[in-house]
Amino acid sequence: MKKIKLKKKNRSTTSYRWLQRHLNDTYVIKSKTEGFRSRSSYKLIEIEKKFKILSKSKNILDLGCAPGGWLQVARIFCPKDSNILGIDRIKIEKIEKVNFIEKDIFDEDILQIIKTNFNCKVDIVMSDMSPNSSGNKSVDHLRIISLVERVLEISKKILKPEGFLISKIFQGGAQGELIDSMRNELNNIKYFKPKSSRKESAETYLVAKKN
Ligand SMILES: C[S@@+](CC[C@H](N)C(=O)[O-])C[C@H]1O[C@@H](n2cnc3c(N)ncnc32)[C@H](O)[C@@H]1O
Repeated sequence: MKKIKLKKKNRSTTSYRWLQRHLNDTYVIKSKTEGFRSRSSYKLIEIEKKFKILSKSKNILDLGCAPGGWLQVARIFCPKDSNILGIDRIKIEKIEKVNFIEKDIFDEDILQIIKTNFNCKVDIVMSDMSPNSSGNKSVDHLRIISLVERVLEISKKILKPEGFLISKIFQGGAQGELIDSMRNELNNIKYFKPKSSRKESAETYLVAKKN
């Protein structure tokens, strides 16, 4: 495929490089032709091919779901009558037979809202969230930890026994207490880096079962 070469114009070197890489990324091109809203969709497809979780699950919660690529994949792989809910602080365009709530996962009433939507505990909590970068490594590290902690806290209260957590984590991001609480709450913990996750990214995915 012919490589797109951009003119630098008045872009900063960082944004020029990002845009240049983005426009030529195989998964970005594939997502456009196949109708997925994000290149991230392929990460969940790879996770599903390896672990076969979605196809058996009827109540699915996607934390930090915008623009909706994972929700589209869940809609494809989960049984037709599944209840799929996405939450994000950014609004998404409607996806048929998928519920969406515009909310921050740190909001106090989030658990109540999730419970009202499902009427039961859920089979899968998934999260592909990353915090906005502050440019300061220590601050970003703390933000990553608090996001994963929050995902764990929500999972603890809302997942069925034997339900699954699929969560983006960052290599080197989970330490001490966080690892302990993961081990207390979850078993069968597996880490998986999909081919569609950029090699240079520290992200990886945790797939685990609730105790
Ligand atoms: C990488 S994107 C998710 C992409 C999505 N999996 C997809 O395939 O389209 C991460 C999302 O997490 C959301 N996010 C980050 N922190 C959040 C928070 N505290 N509450 C709600 N959403 C959050 C961001 O708004 C962003 O849309």
